[in-house]
Amino acid sequence: MDPTAIHDALLAWYDRHRRDLPWRALPGETADPYSVWLSEIMLQQTTVKTVRPYFEDFLKRWPTVGDLAAAELEDVLRAWAGLGYYARARNLHACARAVAAKGGAFPSSEDELLGLPGIGAYTAAAIAAIVFDRAAMPVDGNVERVVARLFAVEEPLPRAKRRLAEIARGLTPPSRAGDFAQAMMDLGATVCTPAKPRCILCPLAEPCRARARGIAEDLPARDAKPERPTRHGVVFFATRADGAVLLRKRPEKGLLGGMTELPTTDWRGHAYPVDEMMALAPAPAAWRTLPGLVRHTFTHFHLELTVAASRIPDPRLVEGYWIAIERLGVEALPSVMRKVVAHALKAKARG
Ligand code: ADE
Repeated sequence: MDPTAIHDALLAWYDRHRRDLPWRALPGETADPYSVWLSEIMLQQTTVKTVRPYFEDFLKRWPTVGDLAAAELEDVLRAWAGLGYYARARNLHACARAVAAKGGAFPSSEDELLGLPGIGAYTAAAIAAIVFDRAAMPVDGNVERVVARLFAVEEPLPRAKRRLAEIARGLTPPSRAGDFAQAMMDLGATVCTPAKPRCILCPLAEPCRARARGIAEDLPARDAKPERPTRHGVVFFATRADGAVLLRKRPEKGLLGGMTELPTTDWRGHAYPVDEMMALAPAPAAWRTLPGLVRHTFTHFHLELTVAASRIPDPRLVEGYWIAIERLGVEALPSVMRKVVAHALKAKARG
């Protein structure tokens, strides 16, 4: 396959059909390192549609990396709430501090970028290529799919990852590497889509081996995923006489590390019988389990939560802190805990 023909065809397509995204520079202009870094961290595991309002909100609150570095971590976590994977928000803040401490300029080489908190191989390559026009190729799921089809790689993911990355890196053009990478991402998101690829609109239809063989839609192949297990837990919606609700901070390590939560048991493989549930409550009280379950899916498991609610007779004895019920909406609660709050408030409204 002639790489130059691929570069030319894809870059010409990008010049006409690129998505207009708030972190992208206008054609011919240099992208802002802070915007590109922020967007790439936000875009890990999430879609452009979800990220857009968060990105705009962050830029409004903290227009420069120095502003973000000077922000309180709590405020950053609160602004991040809902994007998930909170370790990324902590690393984002740590990275802003590291960059600000060195004068506020992002380094331009992949190696130096890799040394910063939260920047892995993908993000280092993305920033080096998009901002600094270095010959680098960030490989995300879109790029893997485009390459698997273009070269008809039938080996299934995740085994094929290294091979696909090698092929993708081999396609890095001598100039406009950032545009080329983003063109691959846009092609994957809008034309070379997981289901029903629009080959008829594809600038790479001619060289595409999977299309020639009629197997584009079957690629990339995937090893069967193990089923996500279901875990169970109990969450306690504890209220004080004045209506305030009990919250606490999760341990720094582990899932949702350092985030705010309503007190909850461990999440384990089998349900909690009532007597065990009561023994694990944050305080002795007349706990009542609310009808229904709160369901949430994490990367590696489904979670089913029973919600128990009670007024706490002696609120001095509990660990955690109390917050007015009207302020729950502005706390940096992870999505699963927002669901719990909504569930509890609905039950309360029903009486
Ligand atoms: N996904 C991750 N980074 C992206 C970018 N720069 N453009 C489009 N989609 C992306």
